[in-house]
Amino acid sequence: MTVVARTVAQLRSAVADLQGSVGLVPTMGALHEGHGRLVSLAAEENSSVVVSIFVNPLQFTDLGDCDDFRHYPRDLDKDVAFLEKLGVDVVFAPTDEAMYPDGLPQVWVRAGEMGERLEGASRPGHFDGVTTVVAKLFQLIQPDRAYFGEKDAQQLAIIQRMVMDLDFPLQIRPVPIIRGADGLAESSRNQHLTPEAREQALVLPRTLAALRDRAAAGDPLDVEGAREALRSAEGVELDHLEVVDAATLLPVSEVGAGALAVAAIHVGGTRLIDNVRLLPPRA
Ligand code: PAF
Repeated sequence: MTVVARTVAQLRSAVADLQGSVGLVPTMGALHEGHGRLVSLAAEENSSVVVSIFVNPLQFTDLGDCDDFRHYPRDLDKDVAFLEKLGVDVVFAPTDEAMYPDGLPQVWVRAGEMGERLEGASRPGHFDGVTTVVAKLFQLIQPDRAYFGEKDAQQLAIIQRMVMDLDFPLQIRPVPIIRGADGLAESSRNQHLTPEAREQALVLPRTLAALRDRAAAGDPLDVEGAREALRSAEGVELDHLEVVDAATLLPVSEVGAGALAVAAIHVGGTRLIDNVRLLPPRA
């Protein structure tokens, strides 16, 4: 049976009843197949699974005083039904007051320079909000492993760095991107796309796949050409497309084990991100 905890006290009591290793899947709800994959892996690797569902105002523009936060898709009953079917032990779905009883925390975890580039350049403070809430979830739940999707490559790199820098005693488990049949990476924000916008958005995975194929063929990447393909696509506004090292997020000029092409676009008012690994031709 899945226990739904709405307060910190309820969570602590539910977690105290868990036996063996605990896997945590932090989410903001509006769950989809990508989350399903995180939960399945957590269930395979741990005795118990906790999923948090919290649309964290700290990681939105103006600490949540923005339409992106207000319109973020929320359907707790549907999400809980989805997680019950997957056999999740505890769902932690706190209210804003339960998470931040004083309104806002005074003390934050800062993501530093890694949080200021790429996504962070367009969304100042976003990653400080992410690291602060994730540190709080780690502290409350004390999982053995925590599961993060590779779609949010910058978030994953920053959380891995936070765990290393602050000595959180847990393992971060990255989980590969899940794509729809049309190639679009699964995201809660896809719910905002009209069929026309979804069609327009496909230029993102196609452009990244073309970069991946050029890398695999040993051809010059032509990143600027890829940017131009996104800039000139109908209905699309390019935010960024960069080739970076997956761990440090610093720009790299060579393809190789850690090289990642990361991109963000806006389509029909919705911000979408995606990335691909850039591997050299097989020897
Ligand atoms: O990736 C997300 O859904 C969020 O950034 C996270 C990790 C749950 C923190 O709010």
